Amino acid sequence: MQQVNRALFDEVMVPNYAPAQMIPVKGAGSRVWDQQGKEYIDFAGGIAVNCLGHCHPALVAALKEQGEKLWHLSNVLTNEPALLLAKALVDATFAEKVYFANSGAEANEAALKLARRVAKDQFGEHKDQIVAFKQGFHGRTFFTVTVGGQPAYSDGFGPKPEAIEHAEFNNIDSLKALISDRTCAVMVEPLQGEGGVLPADAEFMQQVRALCTKHKALLIFDEVQTGVGRTGELYAYMGLGVTPDILTTAKALGGGFPIGAMLTTTAIAKHLVVGTHGSTYGGNPLACAVALAALNTVNQPDVLAGVKAKEQLFRDGLRQINEKYQVFATIRGQGLLLGAVLNADYAGKARDFMVAAAEEGLMALVAGANVVRFTPSLVIPDADIREGLARFERAVAKIVQG
Ligand SMILES: Cc1ncc(COP(=O)(O)O)c(C=O)c1O
Repeated sequence: MQQVNRALFDEVMVPNYAPAQMIPVKGAGSRVWDQQGKEYIDFAGGIAVNCLGHCHPALVAALKEQGEKLWHLSNVLTNEPALLLAKALVDATFAEKVYFANSGAEANEAALKLARRVAKDQFGEHKDQIVAFKQGFHGRTFFTVTVGGQPAYSDGFGPKPEAIEHAEFNNIDSLKALISDRTCAVMVEPLQGEGGVLPADAEFMQQVRALCTKHKALLIFDEVQTGVGRTGELYAYMGLGVTPDILTTAKALGGGFPIGAMLTTTAIAKHLVVGTHGSTYGGNPLACAVALAALNTVNQPDVLAGVKAKEQLFRDGLRQINEKYQVFATIRGQGLLLGAVLNADYAGKARDFMVAAAEEGLMALVAGANVVRFTPSLVIPDADIREGLARFERAVAKIVQG
């Protein structure tokens, strides 16, 4: 029989990832087991995807039920789970219309194409400029990676999509210098995730909103990482006093089943007329059935309040670790999207902390070279947080003691 081990990855997989040596085979709640039976506490959550942990009963039930009814139709037909999920998203947010995709990048691709189309229809071809932010991340299609503010990800693939510029995040003067009546859209994460777990100031966001309105540019919130309860709000915009024109959501939306969505108003949506955009799998019944169960489970006052309470537990635990070992300059982020920023003595070593944590039985993440990132399940038991932090402390101690 074929041996399944890490060496097989190097043999048969395109080398664009560098996964850990261990191969997880089973998960339940916030615990994961590898092929050797070693147990891990999961503070990574599949990078802010597994919002209800692993194999949550409500999601398993929705998947099984839909799996025995209908798997796929294509968008030549609509289906009940897609319509129910769209209705739930519309009821829960500012949006009036929904477009389904399969990932965050695809939801963003739809948002950017829509913004360009709205501007062209209403003002003409010249209104094509898109402004985004340095260090931002919006996905890996060529359009979204170019809108993302990390040239390391977008360089080296030939000519890029044009009329895309980048301002400094949390610096309104920098945006003022770029935005004009030629701008069709401003795309922003309310909290930069991949860029280092950096929240936007509410005042900055309100000024961004005002500038977009002034220049008749659409404000696109990329809530792929922050959406579906991650910050303690169902969507982060709800805590900022700012309403976007278009919002994208993915990751946690499916709780581990691939799905993305673009949300907007009727007046904006009407520009995406029949034939302008599409996807074979977008709105797939299996994905939508699972996402509806995830959304309904997360969008409860006790779950959202729980995110804020668990944030405090994390912050207290990380502060105590730091008092002993002095490794962090600050802890930042919101809800259960938290970043421990390494101080000057440990600059550039985030990966070492992640690897040491895994040795102690804790799955964590990085966000750049200087930030250890935590994006656990939104319903992680407090006892798992405490045990996970104890394991993290052992990892920190190992690094500090060399
Ligand atoms: C803010 C944000 N936008 C978009 C994406 C891309 O999503 P996907 O990997 O599902 O295409 C990510 C992924 O990390 C993200 O964090």
